[in-house]
Amino acid sequence: MNMTSASKKTVYGDYLQLGKLLECQEPYSGSEQKPAHDEMLFIIVHQVYELWFKQIIHDLDSVLDLMAPNPMSEKGLCTVVARLNRIKEIIKLLIAKLDVLETMKPMDFLDFRHFLGTMSGFQSHQFRLLEIKLGLSSCDRVTPSKCPYAKDFTSIQQEKLNATETATSLFSKVQEWLERTPFLENGSFSFKLVYKEAVDSMLKHEKKRIESLTGLTEKEKKMQDLRLNDLSENYGKLANPEIYDQLLREGKRCLSYKSTLAAVFIESYSNEPILHMPHQFLHAALEVDRLLSLWRFRHALMVQKMIGTKGGTGGSLGYAYLIKTVEEYQIFSDFHDLSTLLIPRFLLPDLGSDVKRDLGFFYKTT
Ligand code: HEM
Repeated sequence: MNMTSASKKTVYGDYLQLGKLLECQEPYSGSEQKPAHDEMLFIIVHQVYELWFKQIIHDLDSVLDLMAPNPMSEKGLCTVVARLNRIKEIIKLLIAKLDVLETMKPMDFLDFRHFLGTMSGFQSHQFRLLEIKLGLSSCDRVTPSKCPYAKDFTSIQQEKLNATETATSLFSKVQEWLERTPFLENGSFSFKLVYKEAVDSMLKHEKKRIESLTGLTEKEKKMQDLRLNDLSENYGKLANPEIYDQLLREGKRCLSYKSTLAAVFIESYSNEPILHMPHQFLHAALEVDRLLSLWRFRHALMVQKMIGTKGGTGGSLGYAYLIKTVEEYQIFSDFHDLSTLLIPRFLLPDLGSDVKRDLGFFYKTT
């Protein structure tokens, strides 16, 4: 604080502009009759959400800025993790806050729902910005013909959405960062090759185990074969780059081959000192996405409780639309099923002394 601001008389209400803030709750139901009691709660809950969206965007913007340099500094990575963790905590709050709104009964909501006209959370500009900054692109959206997602925004708001869509999202930043992971190819060490060898020997081992099983019925044998096929198909995705690229082309994966390989490497060897922070970073990004899906799910259930299967005021199918977005709007869906590609610790390839040395922190004593 500089001398001028320190000597300025600071008053709580002025600093927080409470005069303005507390004047902004005007129930529509009150303009014609006695206001519906719960409309005040409805307004305040939405306003508080918008304030938290503002904070999330503020933190997310700083994360994207910190990730802009190539390569990003380690110090920068610590701050990125701290800010993503804060966003996580805020979204947890947003989920819990729906409990407060649910103290309003569906009949209480019906007392003022008709005053809302075509207004809807669908028109939350900040929520759209936030989704886009995380990495949701307009072609991934569930847009029932009746309600293109940006239909109700002003031209200035639409311009901002378009500009945000062309800017770099958290998803692309994470992908770029993963692609730069060192250690995957290190001297004579190639993680791609040792991973493939480990997968091949794991599948051989599993096949032998199945063949050695005695006393199985035909049905049980078939089940075991199916399981082996599943295993081979799942691990084959990463063990064979051509298969992976085909899945990418078909839209069944979204992260590039290189970044997925790096994510598996970081997850598999997260005990190595140098990988602690990258591991925390990946998990923080993943958790933000997972918690946002949880909010979508929780919001959809609340909507079902409040309005059943009626359509939304914004023109969508209501619950049916919202529940679809839970899975389809996951940004890091490839990370969510990363475990499918992990090899058990006892089968993990040895990294060799050179790579192990590079992954550790060492003091030179001489
Ligand atoms: C009684 C409470 C609520 C009801 C009945 C409700 C209902 C709905 C419905 C039906 C939709 C789908 C769009 C439409 O056709 O209108 C929607 C979307 C949305 N609502 Fe709510 N909502 C409620 C509370 C909230 C709250 C507290 C927030 C917090 C800001 C919120 C934020 C959103 C957002 C961001 C969307 C867009 C979701 C998307 O398109 O992915 N809603 N809401």
